[in-house]
Amino acid sequence: DWTMGAYREEAIRKIREQVGDAKVICGLSGGVDSSVAAVLIHEAIGDQLTCVFVDHGLLRLNEAEEVVAMFRDNYNIPLIHADESDLFLGALEGVSDPEVKRKTIGKLFIDVFQKHAAEVGGAEFLAQGTLYPDVIESVSFSGGPSVTIKSHHNVGGLPEKMGLKLVEPLRELFKDEVRALGHELGLPASFIGRHPFPGPGLAIRCPGEISREKLDILRKADAVYIDQIRRHGLYDEIWQAFVAILPVRTVGVMGDGRTYDYACALRAVTSVDGMTADYYPFTHDFLGETATRIINEVKGINRVTYDITSKPPGTIEWE
Ligand code: XMP
Repeated sequence: DWTMGAYREEAIRKIREQVGDAKVICGLSGGVDSSVAAVLIHEAIGDQLTCVFVDHGLLRLNEAEEVVAMFRDNYNIPLIHADESDLFLGALEGVSDPEVKRKTIGKLFIDVFQKHAAEVGGAEFLAQGTLYPDVIESVSFSGGPSVTIKSHHNVGGLPEKMGLKLVEPLRELFKDEVRALGHELGLPASFIGRHPFPGPGLAIRCPGEISREKLDILRKADAVYIDQIRRHGLYDEIWQAFVAILPVRTVGVMGDGRTYDYACALRAVTSVDGMTADYYPFTHDFLGETATRIINEVKGINRVTYDITSKPPGTIEWE
């Protein structure tokens, strides 16, 4: 694609100009955006870049291993795998407000990046895979009373005290353009096609208080759901699909016993840029089969619902 080829050259030139011979750390989330940003920046400045993959304990099943392996096997980029799950989950204990969750996670991300910036010998820059819709959504909601829809994104600058400058080479792009750029840079197609995953991770798919128990149940249910979607060949038709575990337990029957377990909601939407979205019209057969599988295979869930809210008025995530 000649357009993306030209964009790539221009972006590389700008990154070199901005960074000079300083060191950069890049937070990898496992998503397409931060991965494309990392590979692009690595192409521009080579070993001046170190990537940090922070495991905040809010990732999906096997996600940390998969992302780290993908980078180790395909790229020669220095990568720190920071297991900070105790830190994040500890700080989130007792927190149920969605904005407080995002702020808590955002602040800890900064602390962790700062620590690693010092460790790599004084990085001056933090690279992020911020996209154009992230910039717009943050701006358009920041007029309200202390509500930024994505306070985690840090769009508009990091807290002064961090002392790191931002490198955001994807700020002008939409998701489909980032995917085209990823393709141009040679990222594996399976990786480029991954559904978006939010920085605060499973924290915002576990409305109300988070617990390790709920996160474990959620991970298993999500894995079954995504497996169903793949088996039915629907993964690439859907912008994003996930399970949310609800903060309510309901009564059920299983064999000759009574159960009292969590209810969950399945979410699947189509979208072009994440700013508006329609729920995905699964067949009743698909939904029924998926509900049966989740209830049979995941201990702790005995009720499955399907979320048919579009955006607006809903958001894609539950928090
Ligand atoms: P919403 O839920 O706002 O989501 O309709 C739109 C897209 O943005 C992702 N999202 C986030 N990504 N930090 C992120 O990095 C966040 O705090 C955040 N909140 C939502 C969401 O997964 C969807 O793709």
